[in-house]
Amino acid sequence: MFSCQKIVTVITVAVKAPIRALASATKLKMTDWKVEKEKFLSMSLDAKRKLYASKEFKQISDIPTWEEYAKKATLASQIPRKTDFQIDSSLNSSLRKKVSIFQGDITTLEIDAIVNAANTSLLGGGGVDGAIHRAAGPNLVAECKTLHGCPTGDAVITGAYKLPAKYVIHTVGPRGEKPGLLQQCYRNCLKIMCEKKLQTIAFPCISTGIYGYPNEPAAHIAASEVRKFLENNTEVERIIFCIFLEQDHVIYEGILQSYFPLN
Ligand code: APR
Repeated sequence: MFSCQKIVTVITVAVKAPIRALASATKLKMTDWKVEKEKFLSMSLDAKRKLYASKEFKQISDIPTWEEYAKKATLASQIPRKTDFQIDSSLNSSLRKKVSIFQGDITTLEIDAIVNAANTSLLGGGGVDGAIHRAAGPNLVAECKTLHGCPTGDAVITGAYKLPAKYVIHTVGPRGEKPGLLQQCYRNCLKIMCEKKLQTIAFPCISTGIYGYPNEPAAHIAASEVRKFLENNTEVERIIFCIFLEQDHVIYEGILQSYFPLN
């Protein structure tokens, strides 16, 4: 006859064993992304290029500076700067070489970091968030899960896995026109860029898609925050405004003439 104690012991072992196995499998699973992250970061460029989800990718040398771009294009009408935004015009000739407009898919950029317009869960979504997670592969969400979310206005950095970029900086923009929070997104992404000593970064038009921030006010914030940052951070090579919609193409051409004057 089994004593109660023995029955409890048998049940406990029977229940604990699979949980322990699951926990160790989960632990193994959770560390998989760490192994993959280090692998991609230490891989040679040729080897990494064989793994890109998209065969076409752009290097920084393929993307003209704003100064070069403006020489070749008939630009949209200029949009004046915000009246309260002062610029140090003595820096204009250097700063117009430090920014670029790129119209296309941010997941094709082979640069140090691309910025993801994420949500507070960091577990993926539609828009650029969906595109980045699809191109990076499942290890991106596995790493994001360990970060336990990101408040609106804040930013976090992860590996980029199968993406051509080295890192993804995830930021959560505001829903609707909340300038202070959108400014924080740009400032926090640029702060991480400095901390990690990254040289090149690309921003999508944060919050202007599903989150409904009006496009032109958002572009003023993007351009003014990047200008302010570049006036104080000379070691950065390039900051790319990655636009997807023709509407933003026209807006950014108009706005950059005011925040990064060409003459
Ligand atoms: N490359 C560059 N830009 C892109 C891409 C892409 N592959 N796909 C979309 N965009 C552009 C959109 O056209 C828009 O201009 O990114 C900008 C931001 O739009 P959303 O991706 O909708 O981002 P956001 O408005 O910040 O909303 C964030 O959407 O995808 C979800 O999980 C995300 O809940 C979050 C919300």
